[in-house]
Amino acid sequence: MKTTLSCSNPAEIETECLAVVVVDRGEKDKPAPAVLGVDQAVQNAAAELLSSGEVSGKMFETVVIHRPEGLKARRLLLVGGGKAKDFSSPELRKLAGTAVRFLKPRQIRSLAFLLPGMPSGTADAVKAVIEGAYIGDFDPDTYKSDRKDQHIQEFTLVAPAGADRSALDKVLAEARVLGESQNFTRELVNEPGNRMTPSTLAERARKMVAEVNSPHLSIEVLGPEKIRELRMGAFWSVAQGSDEPAQLIVIRYSPPGVPEKPVLGLVGKGITFDSGGISIKPADGMEKMKYDMAGGAAMLGAIRAIALLEPRVKVIGIVCATENMPSGKAQKPGDVQIAMTGKSIEIINTDAEGRLVLADGLAYARQLGATHLIDAATLTGAVVVALGGVNAGVFANNDEMYARFEKAEQRAGEKMWRMPLDEEYREQIRSGIADIKNTGGRYGGAVTAAMFLKEFVEDTPWIHLDIAGTAWTEENKSWIALGPSGIGVRSVVEFVKDMAG
Ligand code: BES
Ligand code: MN
Ligand code: ZN
Repeated sequence: MKTTLSCSNPAEIETECLAVVVVDRGEKDKPAPAVLGVDQAVQNAAAELLSSGEVSGKMFETVVIHRPEGLKARRLLLVGGGKAKDFSSPELRKLAGTAVRFLKPRQIRSLAFLLPGMPSGTADAVKAVIEGAYIGDFDPDTYKSDRKDQHIQEFTLVAPAGADRSALDKVLAEARVLGESQNFTRELVNEPGNRMTPSTLAERARKMVAEVNSPHLSIEVLGPEKIRELRMGAFWSVAQGSDEPAQLIVIRYSPPGVPEKPVLGLVGKGITFDSGGISIKPADGMEKMKYDMAGGAAMLGAIRAIALLEPRVKVIGIVCATENMPSGKAQKPGDVQIAMTGKSIEIINTDAEGRLVLADGLAYARQLGATHLIDAATLTGAVVVALGGVNAGVFANNDEMYARFEKAEQRAGEKMWRMPLDEEYREQIRSGIADIKNTGGRYGGAVTAAMFLKEFVEDTPWIHLDIAGTAWTEENKSWIALGPSGIGVRSVVEFVKDMAG
């Protein structure tokens, strides 16, 4: 998808479709739909339909006017934005996605989207629309024989006359990087386990680094021997059961002339398929466990964006990639493993494997010099019970880092909710035979998983994202396809930009 900015008069734009936002300015049950924007020609073209009572402006409503009078566009698409007073950039992001997803299957390949005036400013609106357009343009139908490669080819954002063109072009370029990086993540997550093994994931990471082609970005992939040599006993305990060789993906982003510190470590769970291991999962829904590498893929997407946007801060990305499989070599409940830090772990349930691979990934990031850590993982079913598919769970051992991360989430428009890490929860992962055990019982499962990780980050300021409920969108929505969501990419990048000052 090509995205460009236009400051032309909307009436003069020759396009297959001009999309505009309609909000409801009315009271309670009396809708008063109005086009958001000041352009008189567009207002006139929509006036008759808006006064007809056929349109209410409710969220995601879509109505097309063919050959709109007074406009050069062949169609005018009205996209409902809901109540005027509640309208802000998260809604706008979804409306841009809605316009794209509405037009794509109708063989429309180019559209112009009229930027509404927003209280949060024009730049914020440009960012939301472009990100939303990329999100909407993604479909997970790669393996369908009758796939018609439905993509929007040209997306033109129409900015108000008199806008600061060069400033907005910069915002657009940045939003494009974010949108494309999020879709890169979604492509990885969408692949099935037989086509996305740990080796494939490493290959895709290598390819991404080659394509970004930045002198400040480098990648190294460590195989099973190196993983054992580094004494990553927790990571290896999961990897040992699979015939697919585990891969430790290490990417360094090191721009010239920046201070030695801080160094941000981005650690991702890269379980390319989670069968549960010997503590095998029920068959029902097991196919979904191909997305158990979504945290790792999110970190790869974030690093892609970081390398392209060049913030002035050092970043190390680590993805611990392996399958979790039952076999004659697989670890068993009751086994005791020694993590890289020397901590001993009693394995209670081999299905609690994410925390095991992350334990060594986090420790390794610290060993490589990370002064701050963020990890992302589809870690627990418990976080799905707690927060459903709406919010990702965020855990933090440092309030200052959390405060900055919370602002980054908000700028990114990704929904997350902070969860606790009180010392009292530690009791649940005490073991009779080792330093800790890898499960904490039925209650507070997302928290005890995070407490387990905390043992390996020690005092390093750290954010943990449990994206088990949010990495996969369970149904088709007007602005996003069913499938991988790419959650985490934008928040992490916003955080890094802020960290770089
Ligand atoms: N990958 C799963 C968590 C998960 C569940 C991701 C649902 C996406 C959707 C994780 O490895 C897992 O199996 N966790 C167990 C932990 C339990 C054994 C303590 C769980 O949540 O059931
Ligand atoms: Mn598991
Ligand atoms: Zn898992």
